[in-house]
Amino acid sequence: MDEKKDILKVLASEEELKETVKRLGRQITEDYKDKNLLLVSILKGAIVFMSDLLREVKCDCVIDFMAVSSYSGNKTTGVVKFKKDLDINPEGKDILIVEDILDSGITLNYLKGVLEDRNAASIKVCALLDKPGNRRVDIKADYSGIVIPDEFVVGYGLDYNENYRNLPYVGVLRPEVYEK
Ligand code: IMP
Ligand code: MG
Repeated sequence: MDEKKDILKVLASEEELKETVKRLGRQITEDYKDKNLLLVSILKGAIVFMSDLLREVKCDCVIDFMAVSSYSGNKTTGVVKFKKDLDINPEGKDILIVEDILDSGITLNYLKGVLEDRNAASIKVCALLDKPGNRRVDIKADYSGIVIPDEFVVGYGLDYNENYRNLPYVGVLRPEVYEK
């Protein structure tokens, strides 16, 4: 990976991401202080966001992970494949799904559906990035970080063919990279 050559522009700097995560953490702390919070991160894209957000949540909480995939390269297939379920029983818990990006909405809509049958006390969604221009199902994040244009982004956990997750910022990938 040649970072300088592959990234067209930075959409969210390290500084902006830090501020955004702090803001979301404050809201979540306030809203969940008397609740039974279970943070559910979606592998793999949300791991960086989850690990930063977790340290800004100052109320009692437990964490777990789910894994799904719907992407092939830079395109959603529209079909969500279920890969890993929760280890913790969510019954009676206030679930907050922690996602890297809300794009078409298909993944989150599917996951909410899966969790709805499990007798959780509540289910909400926190998405770091939001691309409302590309929505295909009617779903909104209860906690939303940064609204971005409909461009394919990488970094801060987000990948293109498993690469670029380690960039500390979110950037737009040069189309030449995936058109190759
Ligand atoms: P959705 O189902 O279309 O809302 O997409 C959700 C998942 O697709 C996210 O959790 C990401 O893993 C992936 N995704 C969507 N847009 C992007 C992007 O711009 N860059 C990298 N991954 C993306
Ligand atoms: Mg993801």
